[in-house]
Amino acid sequence: MARESWASRVGFILAAVGSAVGLGNVWRFPWMTAEYGGSAFLAVYLCIVLLVGVPGLLAEFVIGRRSKRNPAGALARLAPGTKSWGYVGLFGVITALVLLSFYSVVGGWILRYFAGSFTGSYFAEPSAYFGRISFGAEAAAFQVVFLALTALVVLGGVRGGIEKATKVMMPIIAVLLAVLAGWAVTQPGAGMGLSFYLNFDPTPIQNDPIGMLRAAAGQALFTLSLGVGTMITYASYLGEDNSLAFDGSVISVLNTGVGVLAGLVVFPLLFAFQGGLTEVTAGGESGAIFMGVAGAFREMPYGEVIAVGFFGAILFAALSSSISMLEIPVAYLVDEQGVSRRSATVGLTGLVLVTGAICAFNPGIFDFVASTLVDLMLTAGLAGFLVFTGWVLGKDALSEYDSGAGRVARALGTPWLWSVRTILPLFLLVTLAVNLYALL
Ligand code: PHE
Ligand code: NA
Repeated sequence: MARESWASRVGFILAAVGSAVGLGNVWRFPWMTAEYGGSAFLAVYLCIVLLVGVPGLLAEFVIGRRSKRNPAGALARLAPGTKSWGYVGLFGVITALVLLSFYSVVGGWILRYFAGSFTGSYFAEPSAYFGRISFGAEAAAFQVVFLALTALVVLGGVRGGIEKATKVMMPIIAVLLAVLAGWAVTQPGAGMGLSFYLNFDPTPIQNDPIGMLRAAAGQALFTLSLGVGTMITYASYLGEDNSLAFDGSVISVLNTGVGVLAGLVVFPLLFAFQGGLTEVTAGGESGAIFMGVAGAFREMPYGEVIAVGFFGAILFAALSSSISMLEIPVAYLVDEQGVSRRSATVGLTGLVLVTGAICAFNPGIFDFVASTLVDLMLTAGLAGFLVFTGWVLGKDALSEYDSGAGRVARALGTPWLWSVRTILPLFLLVTLAVNLYALL
């Protein structure tokens, strides 16, 4: 059977944006921003997205389009005379399963809030409500539903499932968030949230430069879905050669745009209706944003309606990302082991039901996986992909990059390759070392 492919270039771009835009933008980003000092974190994070994220995205695209394979198959096949690079790709496949295990817990929370918004069932006591649903049997139950929705899309295949679903979901997310942001920033008291978010204050950088750098780097990779092989896999379904640099820039800009837009909803809401961030995030736990936002909906007129729109948008964002996580191991089993898409999807979903339940029942494990472990795995993974692109593919990477590229993109090709060879992997390895050191 012929390998699957996207029906159109727009379909590929929207699927990649769908992967990038997700809980990373609306939940993990505000959580990290709150923990690491607001606007300063935003500034450092944006720099890393531009200087490390975008070139990293292009490296994954180059590997995927050149090999037309899942990450493990891609690296094994493109490396002449050795199979060992395949293990770097396989590490990505495993990372995808780890990611999905905790991500689907949060997806379940969103599902629960979405359902609850219609009746306002959590309005009475937002924090008690979150405490009840966050971990344990109810969390696991909603996680199962979220995983089932994810699996349904992946079962539909590249065109019939992923491309179709993301094409519908992405515009809806953008419109809903834009409307909500327009409304949120005009609420009385929103200004304090905006200044926490946007007025640059370097004090947090001075207080804990290393900690912030670590968190910002991890978040930059996470938000662009890098270091796992998602973008390798999605680019492997490309048909004809268009400019990877152009597509990559569009994807990065849209992801950042949605992230900033989400911040324009969340921060003004928290400050206008909840008295600020410190009220909400003291202790910096992962669920703080939910309690804060849920509490805000209680206070505002037509809170149910606005909440339905908000959690609906996030649910779509979460789903378009979780399908991109499941697709990596599915592609691996289909490409390398000759398994049918159907059995691969069902089998892997079954596996994540188990690993996911571990996260759903253990807040400690969940927190460790969602922040520390993920940062480590993505950083190590992307470092591997970059070294591979720069040194193993080398000149071939450049010609793949050039294929379909316009004049501006071509001019940037050589500096791109050199940064992929030298400074970027170095940066990631230092980040990795600092991350490991912090664990001791
Ligand atoms: N980029 C997604 C988000 O921001 C998360 C993700 C990471 C998806 C890695 C796929 C792979 O929510
Ligand atoms: Na993102």
